[in-house]
Amino acid sequence: MLDLFKNKQDDFLPDVTEEQLNDEKVIEEIWKLKEKLADQLVILGHHYQQDDVIQFADITGDSLKLAREAAKLDKKYILFCGVHFMAETADMLSSEEQVVILPDLNAGCSMADMANREQIDKAWAWLNQHTEDKIVPVTYINCDAHLKAFVGDNDGSICTSSNAEKIIEWALSRGQKLMFFPDQHLGRNTCFKMGIPLEEMVVYNPNMQYGGLTPEQVKNAKVILWYGYCSVHQGFTVEHIQALRKDSPETKIIVHPECNFDVWKNADDAGSTSYIIDAIEKAPAGSKIAVGTEINLVNRLNAKYPDKNITSLSPYQCLCTTMYRVRPRWLLSSLRAIDRSHPINVIKVPKDIAASGLKALDRMLDIS
Ligand code: 13P
Ligand code: SF4
Repeated sequence: MLDLFKNKQDDFLPDVTEEQLNDEKVIEEIWKLKEKLADQLVILGHHYQQDDVIQFADITGDSLKLAREAAKLDKKYILFCGVHFMAETADMLSSEEQVVILPDLNAGCSMADMANREQIDKAWAWLNQHTEDKIVPVTYINCDAHLKAFVGDNDGSICTSSNAEKIIEWALSRGQKLMFFPDQHLGRNTCFKMGIPLEEMVVYNPNMQYGGLTPEQVKNAKVILWYGYCSVHQGFTVEHIQALRKDSPETKIIVHPECNFDVWKNADDAGSTSYIIDAIEKAPAGSKIAVGTEINLVNRLNAKYPDKNITSLSPYQCLCTTMYRVRPRWLLSSLRAIDRSHPINVIKVPKDIAASGLKALDRMLDIS
């Protein structure tokens, strides 16, 4: 076996070369094991997964749909084809007996890594020292379980890109200020859409002393955004929009709200991955649509609707490299391990963190 595959999943991999690992045998065995384990297994897949993985998903969806589904599942094993924070969310929403598995433990999220609990605690203490106003914390679901626990314990909530507006509205009905992390863009775009001017928003940068803010700025702000972003969606620029408007004015532009403010504001439409999928499905035949989101989803939509022209807004094909880590070979090793009643790559959130995080997840599901 190649050294490349020397990791903890080795025991469950086929004893073949790299090329063979991608061949039909792997796919064939996955289908067989999926059928054999059908009574105890459900496979979830986020829209950004690759076609050779998503084909095995029993349920596909955006972050909100997958969280809702995870709360309803009754199968013992939940194989999550997505990234780490999604598997953690599924673990918190499922029962104690259920086992959540992430096929590749290296499938993280660079945005989620931009805020940790220590930084959030420090920012929270400092911000509260400089205002009498009640600050309500809201975290985007794209974060570590410890941050979900933080909002659970501090009367806040979690949101996804589908329900951010509803959750922020709820938060601002309970306090005078909103602290939103880790994605500044989703926070800014949503608040602006809700009528909050940019001047009332400040950005807290955890890498700067006091977040780079003065006490005066904190006092005057309604919204405190965290300095975090998705490197995939930051790849879309206003220059891409301008070039397209010039070359193909009839093309409609739809983007994910993780894109930066100028891109979001200049696009024709914006919404979560599920929203984008719906909008494209409803568009009349012959439509030309440029999409500002991850390339695997864009390519899948283009293949699904041959009567429409669906392209990426960026010529550089923005790819989520962590989602991309989930490959059929890791799916196979996970399935083999389940088949031997010895699951690997199990995601288990510590009990106390899960209990606090669940309060916030339930709050989110109730509000939306
Ligand atoms: P949604 O699933 O809410 O569309 O978010 C996209 C994303 O970036 C997931 O990591
Ligand atoms: Fe994280 Fe962005 Fe990838 Fe989503 S697309 S998992 S936010 S890096």
